[in-house]
Amino acid sequence: MTHEEKIIEHLKTEKMLSVGELDCLLTTEDTETVEKLKAEARMAAQSVYGKQIYIRGLIEFTNYCKNDCYYCGIRRGNACAERYRLTEEQILTCCAAGYELGFRTFVLQGGEDPYFTDEKICGLVSAIKRAYPDCAVTLSIGEKERASYQAYFDAGADRYLLRHETADTVHYGKLHPEEMSLKNRMRCLRDLKEIGYQTGCGFMVGSPYQTTETLYEDLMFIKELGPAMVGIGPFIPQKDTPFGGETAGTLEMTLRLLSILRLMNPHVLLPATTALGTIHPQGREMGILSGANVVMPNLSPVSVREKYKLYDNKICTGDEAAECRFCMQRRMESIGYEVVTDRGDYRPAVYNK
Ligand code: 5AD
Ligand code: FES
Repeated sequence: MTHEEKIIEHLKTEKMLSVGELDCLLTTEDTETVEKLKAEARMAAQSVYGKQIYIRGLIEFTNYCKNDCYYCGIRRGNACAERYRLTEEQILTCCAAGYELGFRTFVLQGGEDPYFTDEKICGLVSAIKRAYPDCAVTLSIGEKERASYQAYFDAGADRYLLRHETADTVHYGKLHPEEMSLKNRMRCLRDLKEIGYQTGCGFMVGSPYQTTETLYEDLMFIKELGPAMVGIGPFIPQKDTPFGGETAGTLEMTLRLLSILRLMNPHVLLPATTALGTIHPQGREMGILSGANVVMPNLSPVSVREKYKLYDNKICTGDEAAECRFCMQRRMESIGYEVVTDRGDYRPAVYNK
């Protein structure tokens, strides 16, 4: 066995690796090693989820945000962002269209918008659950108090996505203004898990100042938290942000990290993200072939799509929900996978046959 093969074996059996091993897998130019890494991750995903791909209908319901993250296009400091909010009626219309298209999970994502009080969010969640009791609702609306998370959960929310962005305190400080802290972010993630959400964390690949060491901390944090979902995608500069002139994360690095995450946790729900589809026309397909098992087509009304610009050149901004849904089905079929009509819940190891 070569040194690289040993690392992959180690990762497969121990679900662990060292900083040196991580660095080797991320930087090796040996194509055989890289192919082996991706093939092992693909097989690990198939052993739990088969060749079924879960779809989530993403509804970007507000791009108002009180935060000022340096990387994000909807940061409060971006005066160029044209702000919008969807009404409850518009959101329910998106869900109705999505339900007809076979979506059984709706992801409500937005900036941290104080207009959407806990009461409004709870009302929204319970309205969706009342109309579609067989669907899961995922929230992705940022950092809140524990009591708020509890209230959304009691209203029927099933899952919560909150990327930790980086598990390194110094790195976190370089991506966010002082008013935000890694400590609070981690507090949120632990609260979410304790309350009973299927919880997702994650990070951008190739964000400014990221190093192998900070990535290693991300992997260790994820291992310790034990999330049901991990969202990763390349950092892509947005021209009206402080990081507008930085370089984007790469396709290859993102794919390798997807494979590593899959091997570390064969059961985790791992999306091939829109950002991955943005940096390469077949990025999402390659993500699936590297171990991802979820895709999140956009259900937001076309009238607002252009405005939810976290980064430049985002794909699908002109496409109707149905177009994205069928485009995704074709894309998955082209690589031998099948999009399924299913809530697509996390399958922890104990329940696995
Ligand atoms: N490039 C890539 N991903 C981004 N996000 C925010 N801004 C960018 C960007 N410029 C990601 C963050 C956030 C998620 C909703 O989108 O990781 O958690
Ligand atoms: Fe949106 Fe292909 S997924 S157009």
